[in-house]
Amino acid sequence: MDRWKGRVALVTGASVGIGAAIAKSLVQYGMKVVGCARNVKQIETLAAECVSSGFSGTLIPYKCDLTVEEEILSMFTWIKGQHKGVDVCINNAGLAHPEPLLSGKTTGWRNMLNVNVLALSVCTREAYQSMKERKVDDGQIININSICGHRVINHPDGHFYTGSKYAVTALTEGLRQELREAKTHIRATCISPGLVKTEFAYRLYCDKPEMADATYNRIKIGDIEITPVEDSL
Ligand SMILES: NC(=O)c1ccc[n+]([C@@H]2O[C@H](COP(=O)([O-])OP(=O)(O)OC[C@H]3O[C@@H](n4cnc5c(N)ncnc54)[C@H](OP(=O)(O)O)[C@@H]3O)[C@@H](O)[C@H]2O)c1
Repeated sequence: MDRWKGRVALVTGASVGIGAAIAKSLVQYGMKVVGCARNVKQIETLAAECVSSGFSGTLIPYKCDLTVEEEILSMFTWIKGQHKGVDVCINNAGLAHPEPLLSGKTTGWRNMLNVNVLALSVCTREAYQSMKERKVDDGQIININSICGHRVINHPDGHFYTGSKYAVTALTEGLRQELREAKTHIRATCISPGLVKTEFAYRLYCDKPEMADATYNRIKIGDIEITPVEDSL
């Protein structure tokens, strides 16, 4: 991880859950991490924890609603002005709404598409352009996908979400092919976790926390622990 010390990573959805854990871990390894989400106060608290833990990197909170393209573009402009640009882009923000294909609300589908697919694509494009203009040839674009991006589980509440994660699988492979065509060494990766205990299911079932509890109690799962393997980034 030494070569990443002092370099800039953008982590979307850094206020809680997997994104917060990734952001904290990268700060521990010395990176300058711009963590974005709507609930910026939670990222500020995490940033203070990083300081009190004596981590060598820094966490820079940035408030951004990823459903609004202008806010994403302003964030990249701000990063360029303050920190030169993005070397690592971790597209982590994602969510599900319980809206089945036969009866679900379009608003829920649109929100999943906006965050899980469109925002990920806009951040990817802007991060690549940022790397290209600074001749960064070892950048990383990492999409937090899901096992739902690889197989369809018969669970109507998750079918549209599954469609959005299949899109992430296709977008990551398409990105890999475009990067190869562009003869760059920037890497495209997707990571596909199984069930992780975060706010995800509580947000999915915001009116029925017992359903979220049931989701996490169904199988034994561990806490989030992120350990970068040497040179995996
Ligand atoms: N938990 C699991 O079991 C699991 C399994 C496989 C894959 N995943 C994937 O892992 C990723 C992270 O999930 P998680 O479990 O950590 O979920 P989480 O605890 O619910 O966190 C979701 C994050 O996304 C952010 N977000 C949502 N909508 C946003 C918006 N409009 N603008 C900006 N940020 C937004 C949230 O921030 P704010 O609300 O503060 O904006 C939050 O930081 C997702 O892509 C998810 O699909 C999760």
